[in-house]
Order: sequence, then structure tokens, then C-alpha cells
Amino acid sequence: MSIDDARVAELRNLDPNDVTADAADAILADLSELLGQANSAYHTDDAPLIDDASYDALKRLNMAVEAAFPNKKREDSPTDQVGAPVSETFSKVTHAVRMLSLSNAFADEEVVEFVDGVRRFLNIAADAPLSFTAEPKIDGLSLSLRYENGQLIQAATRGDGAVGENVTANAKTIADIPHTLNAAPDVLEVRGEVYMSEADFLALNKRQEEAGAKTFANPRNAAAGSLRQLDPKITASRPLRFFAYAWGELSAPLATHQSKAIARLQELGFQTNDLTKVCETPEEMIAHYTDIMLKRADLGYDIDGVVYKVDDLALQRRLGFRSTTPRWAIAHKFPAELAWTRLVAIDIQVGRTGALSPVARLAPITVGGVVVSNATLHNEDYIAGVGGDGHPIREGRDLRVGDLVQVYRAGDVIPKIKDVDLSKRPDDAAPYVFPDVCPECGSHAIREAGDAVRRCTGGLICPAQAVERLKHFVSRGAFDIDGLGAKQIEMFYQDEVLPIKEPADIFTLQARNAASLAKLQNRDGFGETSVKNLMQAIEDKRTIPLGKLLFGLGIRHVGESASNLLANHYGSWQALTAAMDKSEVGTGEAWDDLLNVDGVGAVMATSLIEAFQNDAERASIDRLAAELTVLDAEVRDTSDSPVAGKTVVFTGTLEKMTRAEAKSRAEALGAKVSGSVSAKTDFLVAGPGAGSKAKKAADLGVETIDEDAWLALIGEA
Ligand code: IVH
Repeated sequence: MSIDDARVAELRNLDPNDVTADAADAILADLSELLGQANSAYHTDDAPLIDDASYDALKRLNMAVEAAFPNKKREDSPTDQVGAPVSETFSKVTHAVRMLSLSNAFADEEVVEFVDGVRRFLNIAADAPLSFTAEPKIDGLSLSLRYENGQLIQAATRGDGAVGENVTANAKTIADIPHTLNAAPDVLEVRGEVYMSEADFLALNKRQEEAGAKTFANPRNAAAGSLRQLDPKITASRPLRFFAYAWGELSAPLATHQSKAIARLQELGFQTNDLTKVCETPEEMIAHYTDIMLKRADLGYDIDGVVYKVDDLALQRRLGFRSTTPRWAIAHKFPAELAWTRLVAIDIQVGRTGALSPVARLAPITVGGVVVSNATLHNEDYIAGVGGDGHPIREGRDLRVGDLVQVYRAGDVIPKIKDVDLSKRPDDAAPYVFPDVCPECGSHAIREAGDAVRRCTGGLICPAQAVERLKHFVSRGAFDIDGLGAKQIEMFYQDEVLPIKEPADIFTLQARNAASLAKLQNRDGFGETSVKNLMQAIEDKRTIPLGKLLFGLGIRHVGESASNLLANHYGSWQALTAAMDKSEVGTGEAWDDLLNVDGVGAVMATSLIEAFQNDAERASIDRLAAELTVLDAEVRDTSDSPVAGKTVVFTGTLEKMTRAEAKSRAEALGAKVSGSVSAKTDFLVAGPGAGSKAKKAADLGVETIDEDAWLALIGEA
């Protein structure tokens, strides 16, 4: 399927104020058609037809024309269509074991650093043996297959890692996926990548084109679009393949080593990648990476890097996980793909923390199979040719509107600009002048010493910041309210009768709607069912886990994984707010305790304390909290853990594990690890050389045990 690009471009540039009543009907009809096509391409076919900015512009134009001529609004108005239709049609599957992603390395040094880090964590000497598997990173989509008593009973996509889509019927049509297994553990979840070969992808696109149907941008999109079909017969007609490379829940171990477990999966009937190799040193790993890179073009399927995994599964278990990635694996990505195009304009976007972010608008160009029309420009220094450390980048060449620029993409990341060709610079291209007022609210935009970013000083009075914060609040990792996405937030923010100006307003919408004369139902295209569904979706999120609430607040520097770690650390909303109330930036016990949380540094801690101690900000947070029931942090898998909920302090030299490992294992068992001894400490684990902490523990009557006693306590002796 194609879209009328010329009409999209024309409408994008149309000023709604120029639309006359006579023209409105035709414009609304075109918008309905184009947005309908774009929607189904994006949600149903995994093959976007237009970029997000164009989509948003068309959607805004549609709303503006409807607002100007309400009686011309169509029955099938795009304003009334909420969310992604297809994702609702697959039932949801909660993964028994979360499906994680991998952290990335780009340079060889990062691979060496990864290996060193693993050794440090496990306290394995540099000259002691430590093996890794190295295998291609398949560019497809991950799938988890659940077998019970040898029968395939469920197949699920990764989704957000915790909950995926049930695609069992579709997965069963894939020839590489066995329906029954012999001599497998009673419960076996096999994980791997669904992909399409390049030849099959080209042939599929040819068939699609001949049939007048939609073509796919690349094999990955084709694989995703084919697996997520409502009709398994369509999936069956698409040549999908599957490589197994990992596992989830198991009733019995597959093997002692990663490499042996993969061999076992192969024996059970799965396809595994024959470029998997066991390597003993970083040099061998990198040599295998180079070897795979040289073979890349002839493999017949897309790969985007090499994955290294610690071979010994007992060591993998000791290394454990960070919040979203294992410590025992890393993806060594291939270098980015490049293309030259024109820089058409530089737009400034204002983010939720007030940062003014320049965005390059590019003449559309295909980079590694994907059409790119925007790229990030980071900040004003970057445009001027100055890097983060003050040194020149691009040998000091600045970027100007009209320039020919080199664009690159690495993996799924936002495209970036690598270089500029000065010989192609138009004579009239002027140096770019970065605005010093916020383009959204007119407040001063200032740059603090040492900060590369210019920020709007408008705070919550800046509509862009307020709207971006609300969008973040309802986004996936945060409150994730069905039917209340970025577009609806923009609409409600502008609404005069039932406005949503801050998060708390979402939860008072029901009451205000009931009391309002101009009820939601008769406005803005909301029908009875959509209002009911929205209200229910909001009610469903009135009870929220602590980590999600904290992340939803959108505090600068406090990301999703940090929010979860902070939630685990403080346990409850009361404990968190109490700690914030008594924390002082840079000093004191509460500050030390905060810095003790894995991944929390001084910058994040300061930002967190400032957000909770700023009067206006805190009032808004309190208004929100008053509307919610906040669930205490879940203590993981600790029903039979002897140390769940206990506060532990480690001191002195540990001989059987490193400090980082001790902390991560204790936390995995539901204990809270603190850096300082207080009356609340349950155990002090003291190794040789313990000093003041041991004394303090003795004074306070805190139980002090040695490392062996600790290991015995947690059942690891
Ligand atoms: S291992 C706990 N091995 O890459 C992590 N992943 O960027 C288990 N992928 O979500 C993943 N090839 O979809 C692993 N040989 C490979 C892979 C691979 C592709 C994908 C997978 C994962 C993503 C992370």
C-alpha cells in the first residue's frame, strides 16, 4: 500500500486559518483517508507510511479544521479513533520470567570493559579462565515458546518485557518451531528470534506489489507484520524462521553451560545459530565479531551485531540482572549505516524538563532500509561544531539550514548527523542562531554554567513542559492509561471545560465530568462507550505500584529503572516521601542512604530531593498522591527468603564475593542493603578489617555475623 505523499506534504504545510468553509469538506475527507491509511500501516502492518511528525501535523490540522467548522465533522473522524486497534486483539500473556533486553557495546574497548567488569563482579583474577559464547544478534523480533510436558502450549511476543501478546496460533505455523518435544523438561520456555530471510523478504515484497498489497520496509518489519496477523493463515503463507538462543522458565536445568544448553535445544529440534563459538579472551571474542561482520553480507538474513554471554550458567546466576538487562551478556553492535541528505530546517522542541532540543528536518532519505526525515541535533554546541568536552567535532564545522549532511542510524536509535559537506554549502546559508527564549511560552531560555542544554525557565507555566510531563505520565513505563495517549493529552490540556493541566486532574476527571454541564460524552467526539472505557481505564490505574508512580512524575534524571530501584529501596510511598522530606542535598544520613541505592548518583539524588522539596511541585505531587492507592514495592520472589524485608549492612573485606555481588544477591532475596548502621539495621555482615560500623552495631545491639554465617542464612553456604 502506498500513500499520497504529495497530498501529505501539502496538508502538512497548510495553515488551518487558511481553510475556508468551502474547502473544509474535501480537506476533512482527505485527512480521514490519509490518517486511516497511516494508522493501519503503523498499528496493523508494522510498516509506517509517514513519519511521526507528519502524522501529528495531520492530526492537529484535522482537529483545528473540526474546531473551526464543527458541523463539518465527519462520522468517521480520525479525532474519535483512539489507540492501536490490533494490539487489543491479541490476548495478553504475563511472562513467567521477564524477557529482558541487552546492553550495547559499540567499540572494542567496551567489550574489554564488559569482560573486566564481569571479572570484578565475580572477583575472578585476570589470569583465571573465564569463557564466553559469541553468536550473531539476529535482527528480528523475540518470541517465547512455552512447552508443558513436551507440548507447545503458548507463544508470546516480548511486549514490554513483562507482558507480551499471545501469538500461539501464528507461531504454530512456523516450520522451525516444533509442536512437540521428546525428553524435554516438564516446563520449558524456549526463547529466540523470529526473522525472515532476505530472499524471502524480497520475494514477499514482490508478491505483495503484484497483488497491490502493502510492501515492507525491511525483513524485520516483514517478520513482525507477519507474526502479528489476526489470521494465522496469513502468517502461514509468510516464510518465517526461528532461531533459539535463550530460555525462560524451566522445571529442570538444560545444562551447566550456555553453549551446552544451546546444543541441547538443538537436540530437542530447534534451529540454533552455527556461528555460535566459545571464546576464552576478549581478543578471541572481537576476532569472532570481525569474522561474523565479514560474513554478514552472505548470511542471507539480517544481523545487527554479536552477542557475548558468560558460558558458565552458575556464574550467570551469580551475576544476575540489572533492572532491564543481564550483567552476564552484552550486544556488540555493528557500526551504523550512513547516507547523505539536505538539512531542510532546524526546529526547537521543548521537553518535559524544559530542555530546548534542536531537531533536524531532513529531505527524506533511506538509511539502512528505513526512511529518515528527522534527526536529533542534541544542543546548540553540537550545531556549532563543539563537542561535550568543549573540543571541536566535525573538525569544528557547524551545521546550517541548506547543508548537505551525513545521517546515520545505529540500531533502533534516533538518527543522528555525523558530518557536513562544506563544498556543497549554499552561498546564502547563514550560521544558525539558537533561540534564547522558549518558542512555546516566551520565557527566557537560559544555559547554566557547565550545562550544554538551554532550558526554558517557565516551569509549569510553560505549556510545552506541562504537556510533555503529562504525556510522560501516561506513557508505557509509567501509568500507561488505555485510551489516554499523547494525542488525547494534548486535547485535554486545551480543553476549557474539563481540562487536564496536571496528573491529579486525570483522576478527578470522572467527578468533574459527572458534575459538568458540558459532559465529555457530547464533546470532542467522545461517545458513550469511549467515555466509559476511558473512565474505567483511569480507575484501573488509581492503584499503582510505587515504582511506576515515581517514574510517572517525570523528575529530571530519574528514569524507569532508577525509579524501580528507588521503590525497592524505600518500599512505600510514606517511606519515600518521609525520606525526601528529611533529606538534605549533599549531607546527612538520609542523603547517604539515598546515594546507597544502586545507580543513584549525586546528580539524580539532588534532582529528586529538589523536586520533592519545591513547594509548587510538591503540592502537585501531593494532589496526585491523594487520588491514588500506591502499592508498596513488591519484594521479589522472597516468600521463603529468610532475609526478606531485613536491612543488612556489609562491612570489612568479603572473601567469597565482591561487595557489588553481595548487595545484588541480598536485594534479590528481598533484603534492603544500607551503607550505614542504625537502630533499624537487622544484620551487620562483617568481614576482616571491620571498624567503626562493627562498633556502632555492638553499641546498638545489632546482630553481627560473618560472611559464612550470612551465606548459611541465605542458603548459599
Ligand atoms: S539473548 C536476557 N541472543 O536482541 C537477554 N538476544 O537487544 C536474552 N537478540 O530482546 C537475549 N539475537 O530479541 C540474545 N543471539 C541472541 C540474540 C538476541 C537477537 C535480540 C533479542 C533481545 C534483543 C536485545
